Amino acid sequence: MKHIYKKGAPSKPTLLMLHGTGGTEQDLLGLADFIDPEAGILSVRGNVSENGMPRFFKRLAEGVFDLEDLAIRTEELKQFLDDAAKEHEFDRENVIAIGYSNGANIAGSLIFHYQDIVKAAILHHPMVPIRDKKLPDLNGLNVLITAGDNDPICPPEETNDLKQLLENAGAQTEVFWHHNGHQLTQEEAAKAKQWYEELTK
Ligand code: MLT
Repeated sequence: MKHIYKKGAPSKPTLLMLHGTGGTEQDLLGLADFIDPEAGILSVRGNVSENGMPRFFKRLAEGVFDLEDLAIRTEELKQFLDDAAKEHEFDRENVIAIGYSNGANIAGSLIFHYQDIVKAAILHHPMVPIRDKKLPDLNGLNVLITAGDNDPICPPEETNDLKQLLENAGAQTEVFWHHNGHQLTQEEAAKAKQWYEELTK
């Protein structure tokens, strides 16, 4: 997959950065640097194109996912992550996924499919990637969800359902709300940084 890799300081996590629809691997480099300038970065571009807009998996309509494609793309990203850890020689056990919108949804799908896929995840404006799926044991996984209570793309029920599903599978989950819509706000970035620092101190 097309990506940017930056080596981090020893013992620092590698931040797996996953952009929103229409974004690229460049989009979240500033956020990664803001959260931890010393961390490694693996920033990936989605392999699907929707009228020229990169995404991580196909959708049938706004908010309606192509579940067959989602499963294939989730496996593809897992394989890429495993291969990238070997190629770039970073600690596969110390990866934190950070995604926005469509990127948060593929990160959620990785978590829904594979046990121990990442050490932690920061999901900005995620939805429930798949319903009616038995989740792996997520004990030990920490997840921060950030959401807007006026987000027309991810209504609050999606956020609450996702939190519940993750917690039922054993994940430690926190939700941060703001009053805006789908955009990624400075407030959310500041919360993500604070949460990350608490987790990794
Ligand atoms: C998705 O398709 O993943 C969600 O609707 C969010 C987005 O618009 O990318």
